[in-house]
Amino acid sequence: MRVLGISGSLRRGSHNTRLLRAAALQLPPGAQLELFEQLAAVEPYCEDHDGDATPAGAADLRTAIAQSDAMLIATPEYNASLPGQLKNALDWASRPYATNVLRGKPVTVIGASTGIFGAVWAQAEVRKAVGASGALVLGDELPVGQADDAFAPDGSLADPRLRDLLAEAVMKLVDAARPAAATTAA
Ligand SMILES: Cc1cc2nc3c(=O)[nH]c(=O)nc-3n(C[C@H](O)[C@H](O)[C@H](O)COP(=O)(O)O)c2cc1C
Repeated sequence: MRVLGISGSLRRGSHNTRLLRAAALQLPPGAQLELFEQLAAVEPYCEDHDGDATPAGAADLRTAIAQSDAMLIATPEYNASLPGQLKNALDWASRPYATNVLRGKPVTVIGASTGIFGAVWAQAEVRKAVGASGALVLGDELPVGQADDAFAPDGSLADPRLRDLLAEAVMKLVDAARPAAATTAA
């Protein structure tokens, strides 16, 4: 089973990318996390070009989503919302609307911020956007606040309560993706 991890941060040393790596430690055997590392290369979305050939960066994104069984999105919070480049990517992924690659895809949204609230507003915005595109959005939220101090040296979350919440969210995502993964493998 392939779980596509998208970090909404382009930053080297991103806490949200670290959070995806912490999630990978919790995956059961047979499931792999593949990080989408080309977010910065996704072109600005423009509806004028919907009928044209899809530009390379957006095409790579759509292919990565289409080839995954589930998605785990870790988002920072920028000004009480999600980062623009992540929203731009989700807009590309949402078109063409009727057949978009997010439709029916199990998606869990988690997030980390250096503030105390753990990017909960940004997570809600991401859930709203992917839900509007037809994804199967799981309700779990993971508020990793004060992210500068949130990770143990082995890359896992230092707080056992958050570690358990992450493990639970990851297991629910894998369970939601099992039927589709079985069909793909057959
Ligand atoms: C433009 C900008 C806006 C931000 N706005 C918020 C915010 O609204 N709430 C919050 O908790 N943190 C905010 N932050 C701090 C981020 O949580 C922090 O930079 C975090 O480390 C970003 O995630 P990353 O480590 O994955 O890059 C903001 C940071 C930037 C650069």
